[in-house]
Amino acid sequence: MTVSPGGSPPSATPSATPAAVAEISGLASRQAAWQVLLAVAAGAWADAALERELNRRPLSAADRALVTELAYGAIRQRRLLDAWLDAHGRVRAEQQPPKLRWLLHVGLYQLLFSARVPASAAVSTTVELAKRGGLGRLAPVVNGLLRAVLRRREREVAGAGLAGVVALEPWQGLELPLDPAAAFGLRHSLPNWLASALFQWLPPEQAEAFGRAANAPPPLDLRRQQLRCQPETLAAAFAAAAVRIAPLPGLDAGLTLLDRPGALRQLPGYEEGWWSVQDRSAQRIVGLLDPQPGERVLDACAAPGGKATQIAERMADRGEIWAVDRSESRLRRVAANAERLGLSSIRVLAADAASLVVERPDWGARFDRILLDAPCSGLGTLARHADARWRITPATVEELAAQQDQLLAAMLPLLAPGGWLLYATCTVHPRENGERIAALLRGHPDWQLQRESQWWPGQEGGGDGFYAALLRAPELR
Ligand SMILES: C[S@@+](CC[C@H](N)C(=O)[O-])C[C@H]1O[C@@H](n2cnc3c(N)ncnc32)[C@H](O)[C@@H]1O
Repeated sequence: MTVSPGGSPPSATPSATPAAVAEISGLASRQAAWQVLLAVAAGAWADAALERELNRRPLSAADRALVTELAYGAIRQRRLLDAWLDAHGRVRAEQQPPKLRWLLHVGLYQLLFSARVPASAAVSTTVELAKRGGLGRLAPVVNGLLRAVLRRREREVAGAGLAGVVALEPWQGLELPLDPAAAFGLRHSLPNWLASALFQWLPPEQAEAFGRAANAPPPLDLRRQQLRCQPETLAAAFAAAAVRIAPLPGLDAGLTLLDRPGALRQLPGYEEGWWSVQDRSAQRIVGLLDPQPGERVLDACAAPGGKATQIAERMADRGEIWAVDRSESRLRRVAANAERLGLSSIRVLAADAASLVVERPDWGARFDRILLDAPCSGLGTLARHADARWRITPATVEELAAQQDQLLAAMLPLLAPGGWLLYATCTVHPRENGERIAALLRGHPDWQLQRESQWWPGQEGGGDGFYAALLRAPELR
């Protein structure tokens, strides 16, 4: 990464097109991050907006990494960054013109979170972007506000006898609310409803671990295709490419990347189908389902196929595996993944899983095992989805709970007597997890709950949060 030291940039131009800013070191990456924040605030998904901005301009690998860090970081920290604006601006953050608010977020994020960007570069590049991006008259405001925050932080450092502002927590210097849950929400930049809920669900130290995990870069885990590739072969190929890997305890085929390579598809063995990207928590789910070679298995919400392909691998690619999803485009990714991994036992069907019993009357009592990896709020994967915490609301959770009930009920007639149903989500919300299973069991007392697990982000071992409940169908039906 190269950053402008904040010296004398070329004269301002009226617009901030990618070409116009490309010539200043470090400016293009900040401009791209700003555009991502603007797009997300206007309703775009963070990953799609980031990809679009990265594709619009030629950037080095280091600058692409900087755009990603600034954009995702500032989106996650929206609440905390707004609190800094509220404390030092004359106008509250939510009343600022959006262009100004999101530009200030890019600058503030660097001041508060980035040890590698000097404060002078964070301020000067933000002021320069204001001038070039149509906010010329507000450039002094940008400069004044960022410098006020910096001065506040420096006073905090002097008071605490620390070595420098980078040793401070990003919230230090702000007045925190007296209510512990509200203070927790502000420190970890979580919406109030979620912060309060976490305080009800977890002891304080586990809620803290959740907050830290929601804002830390998630691990990058792979699953070895055990039918195609031996552990030593994969280890040798990664060693030759100078990418360090480590095994994941308790997961036969799991490994984690200790280095952050640029393009994953260029890693050794991708084209050959030696591995897939899959978080360690997701890898645990299929272990709980425990599919056996030769069985009939339904994966009812299967796209993009991470678990369906894992099921096929565990079944030695022998048996009947149906991968159903209502999204045809996402289902194409299941087929492509299966092909790359050399798996032929998976069949795909585009359908609403809630009406399978009507669409496929021949599927009554057909399956030995069913995986229902249900659509959910994804509250266990906040670290991976920067904008998710601002999209999900208690009302969304209620809508999802109703959908989950429908899907669960629709699975029951498809299981053979004594068959196994694994309900899984990547959320930590009890409304989508234990409460759904309890409701199902109230209506079907002859079904047995064999096992229930809730995995929390920040728990030892790392990985996304997930929930799984293993149910057994009655023998006589
Ligand atoms: C959590 S994702 C599944 C991830 C997948 N099991 C994997 O491991 O790669 C949930 C999926 O459910 C699908 N879905 C949502 N509602 C559905 C429905 N009513 N019927 C079928 N699929 C549905 C979505 O399109 C999405 O692909």
